[in-house]
Amino acid sequence: MKVTFYGHACFLLESGGSSLLFDPFLQGNSLAPVAPEDIKANYILVSHFHGDHFGDTEAIAKKNDATVISSAEIAGYCLDKGLKAHKMHIGGKYDFDFGWVKLTQAFHGAGIPGGLACGFVVNLEGKNVYFAGDTGLFGDMALIGEHKLDLALLPIGDNFTMGPEDALKAAKLLQAATVIPMHYNTWPLVKADPEAFCQAVEKVTGSKALVLAPGESHTL
Ligand code: NI
Ligand code: MN
Repeated sequence: MKVTFYGHACFLLESGGSSLLFDPFLQGNSLAPVAPEDIKANYILVSHFHGDHFGDTEAIAKKNDATVISSAEIAGYCLDKGLKAHKMHIGGKYDFDFGWVKLTQAFHGAGIPGGLACGFVVNLEGKNVYFAGDTGLFGDMALIGEHKLDLALLPIGDNFTMGPEDALKAAKLLQAATVIPMHYNTWPLVKADPEAFCQAVEKVTGSKALVLAPGESHTL
């Protein structure tokens, strides 16, 4: 499985013939290494409706004929716009052609009336990935860790989400094989040192941790 970081909380997971894009905030992110029209994806997973997560979902979904996977409120918004979308909600799991997706809780604003922010556990061609979305730390991350995670994508930027200290506690609870930080240094409000975070993770957990620069990929 190939994981590519497109800045902020945007990742592309590719395996077999499937490509899953998470929280595509490209236009308006000066650190984004690509434009929305450069992205190829079959599915777009959206954690919540804030602009730095829903971002370019509509344009990318339309161009790629991609299916948006999100909470019922956001998927419903996408269906109303004529896009393909699959409605889910927290705790629910569904089998797709690439594997399965389970929506997890995330302690954060939804950004859409009646909604809830979420995270995702994704099984892509046999590998389990946790994308935390925007969230504070919660003890039930230990339950999410029972999915035997190959990869955890965790926010570390503080202010709007976990900062590095709480994200380190999250890494301890999740026990993923690999941890990659996200949601930092996009603006001064989310300034963080991802290298220091990764060193701390490797020191106190059994996880490997690595920083991806925007545009960089890693193969699991
Ligand atoms: Ni947010
Ligand atoms: Mn955010």
